Amino acid sequence: MSSDAPQPHFLQSHREDLHAARAELLAGLQQSPARVEPKFLYDALGSRLFDAITELAEYYPTRTETSILAQHGADIARAVAPDSVLIDLGAGSCAKAARLFGPIQPVAYVAIDISVDYLRDSLGALQQRHLGLPMLGLGLDFSTQLALPDAAQAWMAMAGAAQAPRTVFYPGSSIGNFVPAEALALLRQAHALCAAGGTGGGLLIGVDRMKSAAVLEPAYDDALGVTAAFNRNLLLNVNRALNTNFAPAAWDHVALFNAAESRIEMHLQACFEQTVGWPGGERLFAAGERIHTENSYKWMPEAFEALLGEAGFGPAQHWTDAQDWFSVFWAPL
Ligand code: TRP
Repeated sequence: MSSDAPQPHFLQSHREDLHAARAELLAGLQQSPARVEPKFLYDALGSRLFDAITELAEYYPTRTETSILAQHGADIARAVAPDSVLIDLGAGSCAKAARLFGPIQPVAYVAIDISVDYLRDSLGALQQRHLGLPMLGLGLDFSTQLALPDAAQAWMAMAGAAQAPRTVFYPGSSIGNFVPAEALALLRQAHALCAAGGTGGGLLIGVDRMKSAAVLEPAYDDALGVTAAFNRNLLLNVNRALNTNFAPAAWDHVALFNAAESRIEMHLQACFEQTVGWPGGERLFAAGERIHTENSYKWMPEAFEALLGEAGFGPAQHWTDAQDWFSVFWAPL
């Protein structure tokens, strides 16, 4: 790479209060049942393991969503405003958004992810393939609050896109990782983010649909054990954050379909009784005791459409696959 090759601009949003983050993590570990926030899944290794999950035969969401975006690309491009800023929530490898560059022709690309180092690498590589498209990387945990820092607004103004419509892209059914009340709160903030741009903005969002447990459970508990490794990697991230001494091999990956709550639940289950310690404390886990690490809600399209309306969006349209497994919604401002 030559030294004068264009580089994406990069902003690391204010690091959260480490002390508060540790206190929250510790409180979750001491609850019964114990709970760790899913953001601890996504260090650089976690992001790579998740990319591997998306290639598993059992994990249908990514490829189903990709096929919907490809098959209905022309319709989607007609719905999305021309010359918009594409804002990618949880960009990861940036591969999904990159496939939209052709159909929707954005004027700028803003990639947001909590996994900063991974985002830096993937966005840097993407910039080399799209030299003329201004790109901004934003290291940000939007799980509690989604708002662009002032520096990001300033960057958009510099890119000549301050007044451009905003297309917020939230693929992968990551919205399903929030309980419905939190999902609504996030969608309201996504609406505000779109509304701060020009007219014609909106939200393009992928949502996994309710289906049989026979399809859902293997998608979250694959035969190769990649999902298990992804889930256990959370313990290594907790060890790093808290100085705990979790032994990943002493925990089983458990994926359960909870029909009453319309969600798949991910847990880590103690293989035997063990004590986990940290500077100044410890907790005993009984054999079989679980740590709840993630939920993945599955939505009926009508219910999700109602949620988008409640969040302030106009009448939504959506596209689906031949099996009705996944939907991509366009929700205009
Ligand atoms: N957003 C993904 C989903 O809900 C995240 C995910 C996939 C996940 N597999 C997982 C999270 C396994 C925890 C464990 O489908």
